[in-house]
Amino acid sequence: MTKSLFIKTYGCQMNVYDSARMADVLAPLGYRAVETPEDADMVILNTCHIREKAAEKVFSELGRLKTLQKRKARAGGRMILAVAGCVAQAEGAEITARAPHVDIVLGPQTYHRLPQMVAAATRAAGHVLDTEFPAEAKFDFLPEAAAPQGVSAFLTIQEGCDKFCTFCVVPYTRGAEFSRPAAQVIAEARRLVTAGAREITLLGQNVNAYHGEAPEGGIWGLGRLLRALAEIPGLLRLRYTTSHPRDVDDELLAAHRDLPTLMPFLHLPVQSGSDRVLAAMNRGHTAADYLRTLERLRAARPEIAFSSDFIVGHPGESEADFAATLALVREAQYAQAFSFKYSPRPGTPAASEDGQVPEPVKTERLRRLQELLEAQQRAFNLSQVGKTLPVLLEKPGRHPGQLAGRSPYLQPVHVTAPARLIGALVPLLIRGAEPNSLAGEHLESAA
Ligand code: SAH
Ligand code: SF4
Ligand code: F3S
Repeated sequence: MTKSLFIKTYGCQMNVYDSARMADVLAPLGYRAVETPEDADMVILNTCHIREKAAEKVFSELGRLKTLQKRKARAGGRMILAVAGCVAQAEGAEITARAPHVDIVLGPQTYHRLPQMVAAATRAAGHVLDTEFPAEAKFDFLPEAAAPQGVSAFLTIQEGCDKFCTFCVVPYTRGAEFSRPAAQVIAEARRLVTAGAREITLLGQNVNAYHGEAPEGGIWGLGRLLRALAEIPGLLRLRYTTSHPRDVDDELLAAHRDLPTLMPFLHLPVQSGSDRVLAAMNRGHTAADYLRTLERLRAARPEIAFSSDFIVGHPGESEADFAATLALVREAQYAQAFSFKYSPRPGTPAASEDGQVPEPVKTERLRRLQELLEAQQRAFNLSQVGKTLPVLLEKPGRHPGQLAGRSPYLQPVHVTAPARLIGALVPLLIRGAEPNSLAGEHLESAA
């Protein structure tokens, strides 16, 4: 008997990967993914705890789902409601207290045990809670068969974080750093390519801290792993995210120099341009260290472009500190970036520090930073006009006859081209640039 499963994913790409794996783990029980929660037999919210807003969204969604759950019960059915991910890990007890209609609470490290949790929830009323960091790795229990992932697929190779930046919940929600064995990663990458993937993005909270068991003993870093993955026939593009500036080693630089399939675009978060704030954040590098790393990457791969994350209003950030962030941005020249107001997270060191920055000051700094970052992004997009870029066509576009793909720099590109080209890497003449996308022309289609 088939049952319907609705998964809603918040937060980072690692949650997107985890949601797909939860669906894989539940498939043998008869669960099939559906697009809306309305009549689903099971709903999973895969949550994010990184900022307060992200976490609060979960509780409002749980309120809405209560109505659907009741309606289903009145019709004689049952909707099992599960909260997974980082809010579950950080606030498991609070969830069951605030939302008693939740059946299952599971952390990011225990989804391989979902079938047992579902069985327990089906047998009895009351909550099933599993937010351990088990000794066994969830990756060892994943079914071989997985639903097709599309042209561009995610592959988690590393989890957790030992860096303990003072503002960040990840070391608490995802636990200690762990790298999957290289052979397991390569096998999964091969399966993804067989299932139609042409691009793989390697994932980890600290992906370039990867130090996995090598196939023939010893340890591989990320650079060596990329080299092995680049040999998989049919795999046209490799990316990795998110990296830490402290873990860019010579082997990784060499991979950027030598591997054409490794895309010349790197998300390398810096958070702040002030050495004082970087030290307070426990980032372990200065602004100059970071800029030097960008320079070395540019030397290894001249066409490389960068993106970053920024936090404004970290406790103690002065106007002069913020000015240093603006100066770093001007120096670095980003193709794209994400920026956030500092959000105090319970249990993290920064949350209880003196010198919390008032909300209006954070708002004003964020506006100024985003103005600068948006101008850089627009300039970068415009600089592509007139060039011919290889674009990986991923799916139908918004308008009939259109396809949507990505440039090497992850820019969305729209083009009029035949549907048979989905999955192909096609040179497109870039005809126009919008703030968030490019318009391409397929010269063969035009002919
Ligand atoms: N592992 C990545 C970051 C993961 S979190 C790294 O080390 O860079 C993604 C981004 O969320 C961070 O880069 C940071 O900019 C932002 N972030 C994390 N904690 C935050 C907080 N408490 N308030 C605001 N933004 C935060
Ligand atoms: Fe969080 Fe810092 Fe670890 Fe990134 S490196 S996940 S920001 S603690
Ligand atoms: Fe959010 Fe957890 Fe990812 S807190 S950003 S879902 S690691």
